[in-house]
Amino acid sequence: MPKTVSCADQYGDYQTPHVLATQICRLLSERGIVVASVLEPTSGVGNLLLAALGQFPDVTNAVGIEINGDYVRLLEEKLRASLEVATNVNIVCASFFHVDLDDLLGHLPEPILVVGNPPWVTNSALGVLGSKNLPKKSNFQNHVGLEARTGKSNFDISEWMLRKLVEALDGRRATLAMLCKTAVARKVLTHAWKSGLSLTESEIHPIDSAKSFGAAVDACLLVSSFEPEGTSRECRIYPHFGSTNPTAIFGYHDDTLIADLALYHRWKHLAGPEIYKWRSGVKHDCAKVMEIRREGHQYRNGLGELFELEEDHVFGMLKSSEITKGVGKIPTRRMLVTQKSMTDNTLTMVNHAPKTWDYLERHAEYLDRRASSIYRNRPRFSMFGVGSYTFSAWKVAISGFYKALQFAVVGPHEGKPVVLDDTAYFVPCQTESEAQYVAGLLNSQPAREFFSAYVFWDAKRPITIELLRRLDLTSVAQELGSREILDHFRSQNE
Ligand SMILES: C[S@@+](CC[C@H](N)C(=O)[O-])C[C@H]1O[C@@H](n2cnc3c(N)ncnc32)[C@H](O)[C@@H]1O
Repeated sequence: MPKTVSCADQYGDYQTPHVLATQICRLLSERGIVVASVLEPTSGVGNLLLAALGQFPDVTNAVGIEINGDYVRLLEEKLRASLEVATNVNIVCASFFHVDLDDLLGHLPEPILVVGNPPWVTNSALGVLGSKNLPKKSNFQNHVGLEARTGKSNFDISEWMLRKLVEALDGRRATLAMLCKTAVARKVLTHAWKSGLSLTESEIHPIDSAKSFGAAVDACLLVSSFEPEGTSRECRIYPHFGSTNPTAIFGYHDDTLIADLALYHRWKHLAGPEIYKWRSGVKHDCAKVMEIRREGHQYRNGLGELFELEEDHVFGMLKSSEITKGVGKIPTRRMLVTQKSMTDNTLTMVNHAPKTWDYLERHAEYLDRRASSIYRNRPRFSMFGVGSYTFSAWKVAISGFYKALQFAVVGPHEGKPVVLDDTAYFVPCQTESEAQYVAGLLNSQPAREFFSAYVFWDAKRPITIELLRRLDLTSVAQELGSREILDHFRSQNE
């Protein structure tokens, strides 16, 4: 734990430049919002608060909350120099986490504008810094505990603040206008929609965060309006800041988060049971030992060692980044696959593949210390995601990381099936013609548009197995007029 904690790091301190602050308040004014009071929940040196007071001269009350005393003094000086006495402005030096928001908002005349740019920092970054700039006891921390167990513990502090703000604005007449990561904006809106909060409309305006903050982050201005009777579950997405025409509307429908409502309504009849079962590639968590390259009659691993193995357990492999190149792609790597199914006893290798077993034992220190609980109480040197599907000769595959919906046919190499890494998803097929046909269905316009309705391209892994499982290929075949071809392949597989 570092002895001194840098203020900038623990407070996620990226002050909004004056130009952007002015543009934001002008955009709000052009939307025609009426403002009686302003709250800036982490006011910093006050550029957003001052821009709001300049843009909305009828404001009678304003509050800024800021943890950094130097910033509070600086802002108070600026206010003394610029404000007319008519506005009652109070800058509170406090942590947002200790403020009673309901009480504070209850004392502000409506309509309220909550405008700000909460700290750009995650709970795990604060953990590394040893910082206590976190909420004390809250659902947020329970959430982190749960996420920590499932391995998703990285949480934006701004998300917690924004959740608290939308909850506190429920039932009031107000507008929330916040700069944040686009992924955070989406999570906060989803929380508000699922909780039935009284929103009337929402907008996401992307900002150039590299230009304004020197940070390469997908960020936006989130604008949400609240009215006591509000029931909106939709958000307009604009292509860039200042644009007047939204490119898509995302929202919450049928208990599902939808990325593009127009596409969703056009293609929702294609949703249905999974005709071809989607699978993940093989997981081993030990690339240095299990991913190898052929050199003559030998193999070389990621540790630089040269050795011999029996052929039985060695398969050509494609990483998900290599998949889109499709048929004819010659694997440059091989994967050592220890099992045919996840219950296979690996000890049988002692007799039928002694060189392979010897190699694994020599590298047991790497394999035995694999941390994931999936390897616990399983045969030694086990893998995950292996079954008959792993060894199907033909596959139609897609990478979970790609920013494009492109399905590729993967065929055998040197007479053996090619295996995929665990960041790829695929459906197994028996023949090349079947794989080509299935890839044709998946790459068709109806299927792509169906998937696009759910995909958020700024997500770390935009393509998920849950997404792929939504599509009913029978309905796609029907749509394309080729249902009997699909039935023919299905009957051959039975
Ligand atoms: C991204 S900066 C933005 C500042 C200002 N809102 C603006 O738009 O220019 C985040 C601000 O949050 C303040 N901050 C960080 N943690 C805070 C907390 N727990 N309570 C109140 N302010 C906090 C930082 O000191 C910093 O001024």
